[in-house]
Amino acid sequence: MKNNNLALEAVKAREAAYVPYSNFMVGAALLTKDGKIFYGCNIENAAYSPTICAERTAFTKAVSEGEREFSAIAVAGWAKNAKPAQAFPCGVCRQVMREFCNPNEFKVLVVTNENGDYTEHTLEELLPYSFGPESLM
Ligand code: THU
Repeated sequence: MKNNNLALEAVKAREAAYVPYSNFMVGAALLTKDGKIFYGCNIENAAYSPTICAERTAFTKAVSEGEREFSAIAVAGWAKNAKPAQAFPCGVCRQVMREFCNPNEFKVLVVTNENGDYTEHTLEELLPYSFGPESLM
């Protein structure tokens, strides 16, 4: 267990979560290779399926502003008013990371509490035998 700034940024980003249906608040802080941080939270919808995860919110913001190179993402997710616990990125978010990130280099920090402690994983660990852009070449 360690704590670093990116994990604490994800804890802060979690505060913006719009979660009237699940009450499950998630925040993400995405670090670019040149040191910028893009923030994301989950944004739910009354029609349910338009809901977007915190991780994809962060990627969407970053890529739409011209960023393509990322080194790490921190994710902090637990229910509103509940004891903090770890929430690993969903499969769809892992696949979106795979589009832009080298699986062996990109780090996923899964936050365990409000102090910013986390466990660290490579994308390769979370999405082995993946399908990515090179698969189409
Ligand atoms: N959620 C995320 O934001 N990221 C994940 O990787 C897992 C799930 C959100 C979606 C939904 O708003 C809530 O958590 C419950 O599934």
